[in-house]
Amino acid sequence: MSLEVVGLSKNYEKNTQVLNNISFQVKEGDCLGIVGESGSGKSTLARVLLGLESYKDGSIMLNGQPIPPQKRSLLRQYRKNVQMIFQDANSSLNPKLPIWKSLLEPLDNFKEVKPSFLAHSNLTRKQIAENLLEMVGLGKEMVDRFPGELSGGQKQRVGIARAISIEPTLLICDEPTASLDVTVQIQILELLSELQRKTNMTILFISHDIRAVTYLCRKMIVLKEGSIVDQFMLEELYDQDRHSYTKALIKAASID
Ligand SMILES: Nc1ncnc2c1ncn2[C@@H]1O[C@H](COP(=O)(O)OP(=O)(O)OP(=O)(O)O)[C@@H](O)[C@H]1O
Ligand SMILES: [Mg+2]
Repeated sequence: MSLEVVGLSKNYEKNTQVLNNISFQVKEGDCLGIVGESGSGKSTLARVLLGLESYKDGSIMLNGQPIPPQKRSLLRQYRKNVQMIFQDANSSLNPKLPIWKSLLEPLDNFKEVKPSFLAHSNLTRKQIAENLLEMVGLGKEMVDRFPGELSGGQKQRVGIARAISIEPTLLICDEPTASLDVTVQIQILELLSELQRKTNMTILFISHDIRAVTYLCRKMIVLKEGSIVDQFMLEELYDQDRHSYTKALIKAASID
């Protein structure tokens, strides 16, 4: 699914511009990295694109269809196509529910969705959850566990399995690896990369860490105080004419 954002602006209160004239395009099946320091507006952009927040000016087109500026939480069609993975895996899992119940929530919400992995099968609900766990490299035995019995990396995999269960065409990842240690971060990035190859999902990958973004995305934009200050392809990362702020992010990530 292609995404085109033109001149997008948003403010929470008067005179504080949180997003300022944002424009970018992502082609179907591509991955766009969005980098910027804390407070630059990354999560706000994600929430606007997900329909959890309204926006003021500009336009968002998904597959050529305009997405209205109001909150779109009630637009089922939209939420079916656009899923999100959050920084804190805990926030998307109910601690009182066994993993299999949390995993099936999106499929229960969108009963009309028949994902390809269920096409020719007559699986029980638990078996569906087991299949989802396998897709993200977790053992079937985890279905009956509770979130408190999983590691941070395992919980994030469950979050990913849940998000991809309804085969979204656009997946927004807001700092999905920020709370994980480095080796687990790399495993999650590898998983996302593999899933993208298999499913042709369009991915927006948000991070303050430019290194994580370079792992997954060929194209990236740099946000600073709500504005895009730099926009380039991976192979142009070390070009002399990169914005000084991008250079500072590269230095901060120790990949210079
Ligand atoms: N609900 C809200 N009401 C008012 N201001 C908000 C709200 N949410 C965010 N902001 C402000 O908008 C700006 C951008 O916040 P946002 O959460 O989008 O940044 P971010 O780039 O995701 O930061 P981080 O890396 O820390 O997650 C900040 O100045 C923040 O204080
Ligand atoms: Mg954020």
